[in-house]
Amino acid sequence: MIDYTKKMLRDDALQGKTIVVTGGGSGLGKAMSSYFMELGANVVITSRNLEKLNKVQKELNQLGSGSCLAIACDVRHIEEVEAMHKKVIETFKKVDVLLNNAAGNFIAPTERLSANAFDTIIDIVLKGTKNCTLTFGKHWINQKQQNTSVLNIVTTYASTGSGYVVPSATAKAGVLALTRSLSVEWAKYGMRFNAIAPGPFPTKGAWDRLLPEHIRDQFDVSKKVPLKRVGEHQELANLAAYLVSDFSAYINGEVITIDGGEWLQGAGQMNQLEQIPQAMWDQLEAAIRAKKRS
Ligand code: HXC
Ligand code: NAP
Repeated sequence: MIDYTKKMLRDDALQGKTIVVTGGGSGLGKAMSSYFMELGANVVITSRNLEKLNKVQKELNQLGSGSCLAIACDVRHIEEVEAMHKKVIETFKKVDVLLNNAAGNFIAPTERLSANAFDTIIDIVLKGTKNCTLTFGKHWINQKQQNTSVLNIVTTYASTGSGYVVPSATAKAGVLALTRSLSVEWAKYGMRFNAIAPGPFPTKGAWDRLLPEHIRDQFDVSKKVPLKRVGEHQELANLAAYLVSDFSAYINGEVITIDGGEWLQGAGQMNQLEQIPQAMWDQLEAAIRAKKRS
């Protein structure tokens, strides 16, 4: 039976592609990397913690026909990004896709943040994405390589902003602007740029920092979602695999929200009327119609 937890694309959908996933050793990065492997890609997983990456590399190498390579790389430092890129090219000869997924975040009232705390998030999310994009993009331009793409993981608050995660919201908004800007400027070099804006997808990294245990019981995130559930990692992986595959060759400059309707629930002015019991609507309708005659 087909449902949203199932794998969506044909088995060879990413055959022959080499894909670099920053932050590929945990959470959503690992879920996307695993599926890319299953679809025949070579996948390079990068982050700061090589020990963790090496374990994940062993797991991922059991999947699919491609191979997985783990490289330590702190995306904040351009020289580490350039060294990572060099190693990817030495190993696989070419790279086709960059997935900017690495991120840092934590909840805090903004007035409690030091300048360095703010910078740390901006550096990982915005500067890190810029470092990787510039390195990969310049290489593709120099090599005249066609049919390449960059997929950026943002959030729904990249568009709306959000209190208590202001450095992340600021940085993700920058990543969204980068996505849209380069989708136009660098299309002539055969590159596509797209973004995914996920709603709540439980991962240890995000939940430890955004929903710590002390407050976890008070905030049932699934209640905020019109579809009344959180996301499944496979459904995000399905979307990401499609966007980096050649099936999406005409999708460029798009941000696709996958959040069960969460952000629009907050946006629609009258959505709070959801709380009104069905039985009360007859009474309300009668009262409103009566006003027309008065
Ligand atoms: C206030 C804090 C803080 C906190 C750290 N800092 N935690 N300030 N409240 N809770 C301050 C520190 O005091 C320091 O400033 C500065 O931030 C840097 O902290 P370090 O620990 O030195 O930085 P570093 O070791 O580089 O770690 C980065 C990190 C950490 C972001 C702080 O959490 C991390 O490694 N995160 C990576 C994974 C992650 O965040 N995953 C979640 C992504 S979820 P001073 O001034 O003291 O030097 C996500 C979801 C989005 O993005 C949307 C969900 C709906
Ligand atoms: P996660 O597991 O904590 O992922 C973050 C990854 O980034 C980690 O693998 C981490 O690895 C890596 N990273 C952090 N700092 C880095 C640096 N300086 N250089 C290189 N890598 C670094 O959390 P996640 O939930 O899967 O998040 C993945 C992406 O989804 C992020 O972009 C996040 O903003 C986005 N997102 C998540 C949700 C959600 O509900 N989970 C919602 C919206 C958006 P190391 O610590 O080993 O470096």
